[in-house]
Amino acid sequence: MRSSTTQRQAPRVPGRSVQELLDAERVAIPPALRETAADDVGCTDVKVECFTSQAFFDLEMERMWPRVWQMACRVEEIPRVGDHVVYEIGRYSLLIARSAPDRIQAFHNACLHRGRILRSQSGNVQSFRCPFHGFEWTLDGRLADVPCRWDFPDIVDEEWSLPEARVDTWGGFVFVNMDEDAEPLDAYLAEIPEHFREWALEDRHKVLHVAKVIEANWKVVLEAFVESHHVLATHPQIMPSTGDTNTQYDVSADRPHTNRMITAMAVASPTLGDDYPEQKIVDAMLGGSSRVAAGRTGLVVPEGQTARSFMADLARGAQQAASGLDLSHATDSEMLDAIEYYVFPNFCPWGGYQRNIMYRFRPVGCDPERTLMEAMFLVLPPADGDRPPPSPMKLLETDEKWSSVPELGILGPVFDQDMSNLSMVQKGLRATRKPTVTLARYQESRIRHLHATLDRYVSNP
Ligand code: FES
Ligand SMILES: [Fe+2]
Repeated sequence: MRSSTTQRQAPRVPGRSVQELLDAERVAIPPALRETAADDVGCTDVKVECFTSQAFFDLEMERMWPRVWQMACRVEEIPRVGDHVVYEIGRYSLLIARSAPDRIQAFHNACLHRGRILRSQSGNVQSFRCPFHGFEWTLDGRLADVPCRWDFPDIVDEEWSLPEARVDTWGGFVFVNMDEDAEPLDAYLAEIPEHFREWALEDRHKVLHVAKVIEANWKVVLEAFVESHHVLATHPQIMPSTGDTNTQYDVSADRPHTNRMITAMAVASPTLGDDYPEQKIVDAMLGGSSRVAAGRTGLVVPEGQTARSFMADLARGAQQAASGLDLSHATDSEMLDAIEYYVFPNFCPWGGYQRNIMYRFRPVGCDPERTLMEAMFLVLPPADGDRPPPSPMKLLETDEKWSSVPELGILGPVFDQDMSNLSMVQKGLRATRKPTVTLARYQESRIRHLHATLDRYVSNP
């Protein structure tokens, strides 16, 4: 944590700020939540072509994606030697493999003979054998077999190991980077390892993984999930229980790859006025939320208690019962709020002690107007210690709604509302006569930050 950023004052937002809500906490507040950073990361408009043009997309593919740390999978997805995950990003394909009990490696997923993709699907194998002519590599990437060896007199085995990408882990996630000269993951993640220390995502397991292909640029999709400015028009039904225009956005000029927002829950949107009844906040949450107190009805906020502390106590009780952990030290904010971090370019892990949401956004192939959006839930370890295997990805069909997945709870209908915008944004960006999009100075500062970092990569040959 840097004093230079902690001392900066966030712009005044309407209603009670996140920091004022923290003032009402009943336990010690983690320094991470007290940290604010609202640096000026430029206020220029963003060119429309960066969402629509194939040339800009190709620059991202050449200069950005191969140089950044990307979340490829969960460690829990490759527990046994030989387990591997195929991670695809645009034209690149990587094979993330557990090559030994304590070793994970990432290989460029292409045969060194005539270039066939080595593994088209995740799974478990004892070696990587190309289906085309049968060239074979060991799990740690050494050349193991060349069929008709007599016909390849020039192959030197030591020079025919599978090319590797860099691998590191944080929070139970495997990250990869194709750039040998990239800074270490720990430095890239800046404040995130320290902020998440107590939330320990490495101890969680993945209970849900849902994905959908969306007809829009990857940034159009991502940018709809890093601001709360759109809640009032797109998700009005959650305004009685969701802070929106009083969301805190933390953007630091000296941390190019990370930022954060905190959207308070169990408080009403400032747009609904200062005196929104506490009981109505609780009623709204019980009616619609599965994140806190699912299925409970008729709960009455005791005299003198706020909806926020009441709902946080319910959430704390439920999480303690499920995990056996003592969460008496956890703030109401950590039990309720959307504490959403961002790791450039495409990963959003949520902090706190609840069912943590993770988003990932990837272009589909080399199409600038198609994106795979993924949402995952990580939960605290179960009290009996028996973790189920990680949930495989469920890919929704084009016409399938997120709300058809009951486990998504309130997020299902909320995502469906987001979907109604995304392809329409892409269509509008093609139709518009205005060459730029204009961003709010504070509420869309995370998007400014993203574009400032992206511009640095694409302008660097
Ligand atoms: S292309 Fe892989 S063995 Fe020939
Ligand atoms: Fe939304």
